[in-house]
Amino acid sequence: MAERETWATRVGFILAAIGSAVGLGNIWRFPFQTSANGGAAFLVVYLLAVLLIGIPVLLAEFVIGRRANTSAIGAFRKLGRPGWWFVGAVGVIAAFWTLSYYSVIGGWVIRYIGGSITGGALAAPESYFGAISVGLPSVGTHAIFMLITIGIVALGIEDGIELATKVMVPAVVVMLVGLAAFAATLPGASEGYAFFLNPNLDTIIANAGTVLPAAFGQAFFSLSVGFSVMITYASYLGKNDSLPVDGVTIGISNTIIGVLAGLVVLPLLFAQGVEPGSGGPGAVFVAIPTALAELPGGGLVGQAVGVVFFGVILIAALSSAISLLEVVVAYLVDNYGFSRLPTAAGIGAAIFLLGIPSAWETAWLDWFDGIGVTLLLPITVLFVVLFVGWVLGQDAIDELTDGSGIGSLAPIWLWGIRTFILAVVVIVVAINLWDLLATPDTGYYIVPGPLR
Ligand code: TRP
Repeated sequence: MAERETWATRVGFILAAIGSAVGLGNIWRFPFQTSANGGAAFLVVYLLAVLLIGIPVLLAEFVIGRRANTSAIGAFRKLGRPGWWFVGAVGVIAAFWTLSYYSVIGGWVIRYIGGSITGGALAAPESYFGAISVGLPSVGTHAIFMLITIGIVALGIEDGIELATKVMVPAVVVMLVGLAAFAATLPGASEGYAFFLNPNLDTIIANAGTVLPAAFGQAFFSLSVGFSVMITYASYLGKNDSLPVDGVTIGISNTIIGVLAGLVVLPLLFAQGVEPGSGGPGAVFVAIPTALAELPGGGLVGQAVGVVFFGVILIAALSSAISLLEVVVAYLVDNYGFSRLPTAAGIGAAIFLLGIPSAWETAWLDWFDGIGVTLLLPITVLFVVLFVGWVLGQDAIDELTDGSGIGSLAPIWLWGIRTFILAVVVIVVAINLWDLLATPDTGYYIVPGPLR
């Protein structure tokens, strides 16, 4: 087989990976998970999860992808014993599953661009969210978001993603810093900082059973690991590129954007008198428009900022959604020779249908998110860790070292993957399975709320 093409520039790879990582996970999911899981306690465990587990796992996916030089399912088959193909398959299923509800939230973002233009979203944020986040309006915007995603993947114009990410990331940072500065001026904001930034060890220990799985799930979700996406992206990397530098760059910039979103949303929630944890999936969608309505300069300023803010978030959401759909489509196109356009349309339509319950009723969205993030995700991560640690072994060290000049650190990384990281991921999976099967009234449950 001919050598596959590599990224035209390494920056292109980093941008595509950041485009995939930075999304609703940072701006929508991180703040409300933090608020629901004790604030600073969650933040501390999350940061540890990213640094000690998330980034090493990201590197593990890079190693698999670059070594195999092919997309995910083929990669496991090529590098491992034949039976390992299913790891890639679980990743593809997880991507399919996740996009179904991710698109629902993407649809809300589209709606909020409209709601900022008309001013409706700013006038009565809470009832606006209540009206647009369920039933037919939500199914409608879910359909629009899916159509845009399908269109981009069907046309194969993801090259545009590189450009979009180049604009999106600085824009997200500027918007978040600006809003964080405004939030800081509001009375009550300081309680938000205390909640978010002042950890209490006792709280962490007392709530370890819920904080641990939530923080690890969030770390994996936000870094886009476990879905075979990073494996596929890294398959286009050249041997001279430094995987550790790329992984750390991606991991840290992604985390900064999540924390910035927290510095906006948590002070806003406190300033607006919302009880921690009660905001749920609507937290960002209520907190931000409430603040926009109070911006100095009157309603029009708030509306204009709202259009730009939700416009930028839409780009971030799309660049993640595209890579989720791409995983599934690329698998079918590469393995079965299906043609791209009908595959993207057919798979996109199926994902749309799977997302209808989440669009209809937020309890379903919670349920899909719970299964995806606390079950599918840690399980695929567990397989990735097992594969790199115990199947690739020494080869993984060679691959990580190629182009990196970190010779002596690579064995430490592999040792971590084999022992400590494996153990932590096993514990996380075990806690989640326990929650799922043994305690139907707490945690995440096998029977969704609306049906209990
Ligand atoms: N990381 C993305 C976000 O934070 C969401 C996501 C999770 C994702 N897994 C993925 C995106 C896999 C692309 C591929 O919004």
